[in-house]
Amino acid sequence: MSEAWPIGAAIDPTALSADPYAAWARLRAHEPVSWVERLGMYYVTRHEDVAAILKDHEAFAVGADDMLVYDTFGRHMMTTDGPEQVRMRLALRGPFAPKSVRERLESGIAAMVDRLIDSFEGAGSVELRHAFACRLPVQVMLSVFGLPPEDEALLRRWYDAFEAGLANYTWDPAVRARAKDYVEEFKAHMRARLQAPGALPPASLFAALLETPPESRLSEEEILQNALIIFFGGISTVEAITLNTLYALALHPDVMARVRGDREALPRAIEECARWLSPVQAATRVATRDVEVRGVAIKQGSLINCMLGSANRDADVFAGADSFDIDRDNIARHLAFATGPHTCLGSNLARAEVRIALSRLFDRLPECEVDLEQTEPPRGYEFLQPSALVLRWRV
Ligand code: HEM
Repeated sequence: MSEAWPIGAAIDPTALSADPYAAWARLRAHEPVSWVERLGMYYVTRHEDVAAILKDHEAFAVGADDMLVYDTFGRHMMTTDGPEQVRMRLALRGPFAPKSVRERLESGIAAMVDRLIDSFEGAGSVELRHAFACRLPVQVMLSVFGLPPEDEALLRRWYDAFEAGLANYTWDPAVRARAKDYVEEFKAHMRARLQAPGALPPASLFAALLETPPESRLSEEEILQNALIIFFGGISTVEAITLNTLYALALHPDVMARVRGDREALPRAIEECARWLSPVQAATRVATRDVEVRGVAIKQGSLINCMLGSANRDADVFAGADSFDIDRDNIARHLAFATGPHTCLGSNLARAEVRIALSRLFDRLPECEVDLEQTEPPRGYEFLQPSALVLRWRV
């Protein structure tokens, strides 16, 4: 083999960003559990192994005190495992079930989408990431938490500081302090909302939480800690899948035409896009003891990156895995929302947001087309999305 060996030792994260899928294919074929020297972690790339690790929270835990997500946000469902995580998750899952999303949130989301489209409808073209895809999820979070529309800029500021905090791999003290200050500001703002009688709109997530029976209700501090991760989990992810789905459809004009003519096909296109261009490419775990994965001995305390984007292109599970095929029979087996105890809590909300967003864009801007020359292909090996996507239509 002409390949440098071991492959992981030669992986260069900067080069990975441009086309992670070529690297995932090599790793799946030749080195499915690979030590990536420059990142100091294992990459696991086959669907079967990724799913098995994510389901086994005893051997592979989500957190350690020195992980950035824990340092920034503290304890919540994404940094705990076992009974504590299950209790928090059970208390919070109701508002995110499909029926609750449909009844409490969908009509509000449609109104937000329409207002955003109003702002550029007459222009004939728009850079959709900044004018639409990055704003919609923030507005949806306002309604999830029962906050007024004027708080959009505040939420954006908090989000950007949290994102910098979670990417602060050099542990820059200024970035860390800023993220922590904003965590306290976020909690104080939400606490005031929870404590003010009658302040919560009945459709909000917070209102639904207060409806849960007292024996399963979380403490106020637990609600606020989990609100942080719910908020953080639901912004860039939705932005990315909105853009990635439009990009995938633009590359497949036959599917684009079909989806426009038959909106019933849209959910399948979104699902297939989650598989084909997964926004979240990796989920990190820590080995709680010495373990073996596919014959590779892994020491307790090692970091393991479960490569969701790679698992979703595994030909052992998905026939013709590199093709975008909205009719594949096992379309839902992708791991874009992970699996196991930490499966994405907001996946139904995310799906609803993208479905409503694209459906309204197609209704309101007939014949709109993605300008592929002005659009960057999705990039990134941990998080995949285009940096800009231009849409054009006849005014
Ligand atoms: C397309 C959009 C989304 C994608 C691709 C996505 C992806 C994921 C993934 C891969 C995980 C698991 C991470 C791991 O196991 O390490 C996760 C967890 C989570 N997501 Fe999402 N997410 C999306 C949207 C959302 C939204 C809209 C929300 C909030 C409303 C949300 C809230 C959460 C929460 C709270 C968790 C942690 C669940 C737990 O630990 O029990 N996500 N998400």
